Amino acid sequence: MDQNKRPESMVRITTPELAEAFIAEQVKAVQEQVGDKKVLLALSGGVDSSVVAALLIKAIGKQLVCVHVNHGLMRKGESENVIEVFKNQLDANLIYVDATDRFLDLLAGVSDPEKKRKIIGAEFIKVFDEEAAKLDGISFLAQGTIYPDILESIKQAEGKKAVKSHHNVGGLPEEMEMQLVEPIKLLFKDEVRVVGEALGLPHAMVYRQPFPGPGLGVRCLGAITRDRLHALREADAILREEFDNCGLAEKVWQYFIAVPDIKSVGVKDESRYEGWPAIIRAINTKDAMTATIEEIPYAVLHKITARITSEVEGINRVLFDLTPKPTGTIEWE
Ligand code: XMP
Repeated sequence: MDQNKRPESMVRITTPELAEAFIAEQVKAVQEQVGDKKVLLALSGGVDSSVVAALLIKAIGKQLVCVHVNHGLMRKGESENVIEVFKNQLDANLIYVDATDRFLDLLAGVSDPEKKRKIIGAEFIKVFDEEAAKLDGISFLAQGTIYPDILESIKQAEGKKAVKSHHNVGGLPEEMEMQLVEPIKLLFKDEVRVVGEALGLPHAMVYRQPFPGPGLGVRCLGAITRDRLHALREADAILREEFDNCGLAEKVWQYFIAVPDIKSVGVKDESRYEGWPAIIRAINTKDAMTATIEEIPYAVLHKITARITSEVEGINRVLFDLTPKPTGTIEWE
């Protein structure tokens, strides 16, 4: 049987009961595969790696070593949340690496989006590799591969052209000789979420909107600077808070702020105030190949604009991106 093919007889996991059965089955399978050996996992805080972590903690406890690399391009509070949930609540064996300076130093002055993605992806593997080298006796590498990833690789192998390199940090370093543990590789995203909830992960983590591997790195447009990255992170946190408050977070597939490397003239406290614009993107899609624009009530847009321009240092305008995909891609880079 092809281990990477979802059997037609496999039922879709739609209820907590089906999730419990899946978890019990995978706990047993992982225990059999791993024995008393150690397993390493790059824990990004995304849905897939979080569900794998929770599943493996249930199966093998401290034999799982999670490494969370903060590349300095996470959203506000995200790394802290990973530590809170996995270290404090689930008592995971978690190594936290703050590599912010390494990444931002390497990215300084680099404006080409694909070069930025390559630097972030390669550096991520380097940092992860360095951490792995410090550990003894790791025999397995766990990954949050899900079924659409497998289908996507098949498509790529057939030679379909990609618009962007879509670098997903957390990829398997090629030179690592470890066996893979991929307990959710036959699941679709909605099933992963049902399993995540059954494992007791927080709702916000399980229903987290998709976040690109290179993180805010591809939303701080052009060459990243620390001050503009900071402004982007703060503005994005306000957008997320306001979408949470008015129920849009449940309705919109992906929403975020991008901050371009341009300044316009504005006025604040009766003085000239040059600042960056914050661009709001809020899209709906089924498969990320095409996307439509969510209609946001004006009152919500006004509130977000007022908060961002008054609370975030360096931003003096807020724009709303009305472009569907195509012609715009979802991200700006
Ligand atoms: P685009 O911008 O290509 O985005 O319309 C489609 C979806 O993919 C996400 N995206 C990425 N995800 N690494 C990722 O893991 C990347 O480099 C990357 N670039 C875009 C994007 O957020 C959207 O959900």
